[in-house]
Amino acid sequence: MDLGILRRMHDTATPRGSIRRIGPAAVLALGLAISACGGSAQAEFVPPPDEQYPPSQLEAGRDIFLSSCTFCHGNKGEGGTGPNLRQVWERRSHDDHITKVTEGGNGMPGFGRSLTEQQIADVVAFERAGWDLLD
Ligand code: HEC
Repeated sequence: MDLGILRRMHDTATPRGSIRRIGPAAVLALGLAISACGGSAQAEFVPPPDEQYPPSQLEAGRDIFLSSCTFCHGNKGEGGTGPNLRQVWERRSHDDHITKVTEGGNGMPGFGRSLTEQQIADVVAFERAGWDLLD
């Protein structure tokens, strides 16, 4: 291969100075877009009108959520591999929610062996009514 071809390939593969210069601006814009998304997710949470949980239970549930659930459901419940959970109370009754966390299914691990009934009740309370604690 003659060196002229190599040099031309190198020239096309290397970003021009102008592209390098907009780099930091693009990164900043992306950062702003991501924080804007976070903001709208926060605004979306409406707690269930007829369920009340003691603040201490919501706080205990938040800690369980942060250690066991964020990997799939996102740091603020916004979803990832698993669904967004911020309005889960609209889709599931309290009992159904407890059953889902205990038994799992469809890619959701069951926590009946690794968490106590009290811990499951706490994390369920948090997922129904506690998202403000993370906002
Ligand atoms: C390994 C990934 C993973 C982890 C960890 C995980 N989940 Fe899930 N979760 C899923 C998936 C996937 C689904 C969707 C299952 C389905 O459609 O039936 C789901 C569904 C759910 C649902 C039902 C959501 C709905 O829309 O009805 C609840 C509630 C839930 N998870 C709670 C939890 C809690 C509480 C924890 C932590 C104790 C947890 N999950 C940890 C993957 C996970």
